[in-house]
Amino acid sequence: MRIVITGASSGIGDALARHYAAGDVVLGLISRRKAEGKGLPGQVVSYAADVTDERALAAAAEDFIRRFGAPDLVIANAGIASGTEGADLGDIAKLRKVLDVNVAGLAATLAAFAPAMRAAGRGTLAGIASVAGFRGLAGNGAYCASKSAAIT
Ligand SMILES: NC(=O)c1ccc[n+]([C@@H]2O[C@H](COP(=O)([O-])OP(=O)(O)OC[C@H]3O[C@@H](n4cnc5c(N)ncnc54)[C@H](OP(=O)(O)O)[C@@H]3O)[C@@H](O)[C@H]2O)c1
Repeated sequence: MRIVITGASSGIGDALARHYAAGDVVLGLISRRKAEGKGLPGQVVSYAADVTDERALAAAAEDFIRRFGAPDLVIANAGIASGTEGADLGDIAKLRKVLDVNVAGLAATLAAFAPAMRAAGRGTLAGIASVAGFRGLAGNGAYCASKSAAIT
């Protein structure tokens, strides 16, 4: 099985990598900080890429697919949280950044791998959203909006 996970250098992505790692599994791990082998079973390849950088994502996807074939599962997990009260003009810059990573970055991750998976006729695309996308959290407008968009 071939599995790609973004945001695997910490938190939920790291936990997912540890969950899926097995002797017959190839893991492709993508984050800005390179997630090294972690001493996991199976084969682990790490890419240092920002999900807002489509060229870096495309290069990682091309390398993974050339070496191992189309993934069976891609988990677009990389995300950031940022509070935005809406009272500060600086919040607009934060809003743009959060939407860029959590929405465009998620879509770009899935788009980088989807053509090869479609050609192979198999595979699952998954995106990590949040309960914050279903109900608002006071002071976290940007994050909630980004997760609503991810769900949609
Ligand atoms: N923790 C929660 O309670 C919770 C609840 C619901 C949903 N979520 C969602 O679950 C996902 C993971 O959250 P987490 O709590 O595990 O967060 P985390 O510990 O902060 O990990 C975020 C991961 O995303 C990577 N990342 C951030 N920006 C990136 C970028 N521009 N390009 C590539 N990688 C990037 C980080 O690695 P680098 O810094 O090395 O790039 C890190 O590996 C997020 O989408 C989050 O919104 C979390």
